[in-house]
Amino acid sequence: MGDDLETYRAIEDTYKEGKVRAIGLSNFNAPQVQEIIDNSSIKPAVDQIETHILWQQQRMHEYLTENNIVHESYAPLGEANPGFLDIPVLKEVGRKCQKTPAQVTLRYLIQCGIVVIPKTTNTKHMEENIDIFDFELNVEEMAKLRDLDAKKSIDDWPAGMQEQNY
Ligand SMILES: NC(=O)c1ccc[n+]([C@@H]2O[C@H](COP(=O)([O-])OP(=O)(O)OC[C@H]3O[C@@H](n4cnc5c(N)ncnc54)[C@H](OP(=O)(O)O)[C@@H]3O)[C@@H](O)[C@H]2O)c1
Repeated sequence: MGDDLETYRAIEDTYKEGKVRAIGLSNFNAPQVQEIIDNSSIKPAVDQIETHILWQQQRMHEYLTENNIVHESYAPLGEANPGFLDIPVLKEVGRKCQKTPAQVTLRYLIQCGIVVIPKTTNTKHMEENIDIFDFELNVEEMAKLRDLDAKKSIDDWPAGMQEQNY
């Protein structure tokens, strides 16, 4: 902890020794990812960062895509914070597609080319969260959902990921 480059080099060693299949980052902003790329031999496969309908990380997405690094969303359901799954646009699109707001928001992220990692301890929710590959949001629905981006973190952590800091 506290020395990203040395830590990444140690992780690279595990990759070179065949102990892991892929290595990546979490909560790294663009300059931090770039520092790793510029000073290492194995490019990170993924950067897992807070990403959901209210904070879509569009700038980071562009940067990661350009660098062929997978953008993985944590807290894709906004940690089910009060009101998150009651956003009227999510409900409205869900009614049209016969899907729940959770399914709409996960599907949106996937159609944006973002890998999602929702968490649940509820079997019904798990089934629901997987059942998102039999429908597609159209251009108009995608635009409506894109408009919900408030660049707003759920808990303002980590500060380095706030867009004004990169
Ligand atoms: N890298 C990082 O710094 C970082 C930070 C935070 C989280 N994460 C990771 O990201 C993953 C997900 O993040 P998260 O748990 O913070 O947030 P999340 O997946 O956005 O939200 C989880 C919450 O959503 C509820 N939920 C799940 N499916 C639902 C559905 N279909 N309908 C209604 N509610 C639903 C869950 O409750 P039920 O259990 O009742 O379904 C739980 O309260 C986890 O694997 C976590 O380890 C990483």
